[in-house]
Amino acid sequence: MNVTIRPESIKDWQSIWRVNQAAFEGDAEANLVNALRDGGFVDVSIVAEVGGKVVGHILFSRITIETKSETIDALSLAPMAVMPSHQRQGLGTMLVESGLAACREQGQRIVVVLGHPEFYPRFGFSAALAQKLESPFGSGEAWMAMDLSEESLNGIEGRIEYSPPFMALE
Ligand SMILES: CC(C)(COP(=O)(O)OP(=O)(O)OC[C@H]1O[C@@H](n2cnc3c(N)ncnc32)[C@H](O)[C@@H]1OP(=O)(O)O)[C@@H](O)C(=O)NCCC(=O)NCCS
Repeated sequence: MNVTIRPESIKDWQSIWRVNQAAFEGDAEANLVNALRDGGFVDVSIVAEVGGKVVGHILFSRITIETKSETIDALSLAPMAVMPSHQRQGLGTMLVESGLAACREQGQRIVVVLGHPEFYPRFGFSAALAQKLESPFGSGEAWMAMDLSEESLNGIEGRIEYSPPFMALE
């Protein structure tokens, strides 16, 4: 399989919408991507291309952690999607790895995700690390965080403030 992993460009926008719509079997995540882009909240957006077609996508957008004493910048990994026809062939793994590398290059320190507990821990995400971060969207083993630099999350206890497009989700 000839795979290209690269940052999104304007000409990918329609394909990205279609990939999210197909993978999630609905419009909500696809529309969320557009709203995050329109609102200027996107930090990293990467596509996976196979045979010249976009079949996978991952997005990281800005959030904050509100502690008692400070506001800490962080990123939310969401959504990510691979076309059903191309799932379980390693594309999702390539997208996460490439996305995290881009986040690191930008000097980002913390990423959170609400997602499959059997998928994200292999990249370093941990539910234990997210335990003291309160999210409006969920908790438990699907709610995970990752420290991209040494111990940025040490002792951090606070509430995640998502951008308006997330808060507008049903
Ligand atoms: C989750 C998803 C992005 C993974 O992409 P992928 O290209 O299939 O991933 P990879 O081939 O690199 O890795 C496969 C792993 O993904 C996970 N996975 C794949 N499909 C899954 C599904 N339908 N449900 C739960 N986990 C799934 C499994 O942990 C699998 O690991 P295994 O093969 O060791 O069992 C893709 O399945 C997808 O788009 N799913 C629908 C949308 C979605 O759930 N997005 C993520 C929201 S958190």
